Amino acid sequence: MMTAAHLPVMVEPVLRILNPRPGERIIDATVGLGGHAERILRALGPDGQLIGIDRDPRMLRRAEEQLRPFGGAVSLVHARLAYLRDVVKGAGLERVDGILMDLGLCSAQIDDLGRGFSFRQSERLVPLDMRMDQEQGETASELLARLDEPELAQLLRAGGVPAPRRVARALHARLPLRTTQDLRDALRNVRLPRRRHHPATLVFQALRIAVNNELQELEQALESAVELLAPGGRLAVLSYHSGEDRRVKEFLAREERGCICPPDLPRCGCGRTPRLKIVARGKPPNPDEVLRNPRARSARLRGAVRW
Ligand SMILES: C[S@@+](CC[C@H](N)C(=O)[O-])C[C@H]1O[C@@H](n2cnc3c(N)ncnc32)[C@H](O)[C@@H]1O
Repeated sequence: MMTAAHLPVMVEPVLRILNPRPGERIIDATVGLGGHAERILRALGPDGQLIGIDRDPRMLRRAEEQLRPFGGAVSLVHARLAYLRDVVKGAGLERVDGILMDLGLCSAQIDDLGRGFSFRQSERLVPLDMRMDQEQGETASELLARLDEPELAQLLRAGGVPAPRRVARALHARLPLRTTQDLRDALRNVRLPRRRHHPATLVFQALRIAVNNELQELEQALESAVELLAPGGRLAVLSYHSGEDRRVKEFLAREERGCICPPDLPRCGCGRTPRLKIVARGKPPNPDEVLRNPRARSARLRGAVRW
């Protein structure tokens, strides 16, 4: 995530984990505006290679401009995290030295009027879209129209929305919801406990996660990443909400443990050995960074090295 001044989140701790060295091959699986990628490319030098991936064609165009000075050391690919393995193989590589995932949205996407990511926008006629790739898939408005009330409650529960059944009922009663304003109006009379985040923020976030299938994307990408890393290769993941961070945490713990047999089994039957060593366990940004870039406040950084 970046500010208007293009400040990549937790860039120094990310670089300490990724530790890019001249001539290495690194994947930035969520290249965004290219903020982290630029710093990685500087460390890789002209003999290194960075593959930047993003599912949002608009972000890729911006990354292309930003990273042009690095010439042939960078290639950009329009793809989803779930296709990480195919992208790497397509580039003719078997193994890479590092993989970065900086999940979620760039501030440029949130601020882009017309995409429907933000519930704070004052415009009345912003379509309720929320797709990171507007060339494919179902919009949030279409998703809401398709789901029945219990399915919608389940989606909201998974996104950490309080009183999900009450919210689902309120949304269903106001269908069709075509604009962000329709969604805000539908939420206006639902009395919800106010937690750390405004309830409407959580509803918008839960919808966005579902529209973009974000948690399944992440799970597939983590599985691929561990297979693609060369021995000694580094993985760094920045997440921005608890559902995402929990999945990363559980995945890394499983890969560090290796064996997945039930603890009461006298001897290992699965034969799995540890593939990762954890080097960062949910590190938050330091307070100075949050002051400079408030959107970094929910970031959590996890990292691991491949055995
Ligand atoms: C937080 S921004 C990355 C910012 C970037 N690190 C920088 O410094 O500019 C996340 C980016 O990942 C992209 N993204 C999110 N989920 C994705 C997925 N499943 N597959 C591919 N790209 C994804 C978004 O479109 C967005 O551009």
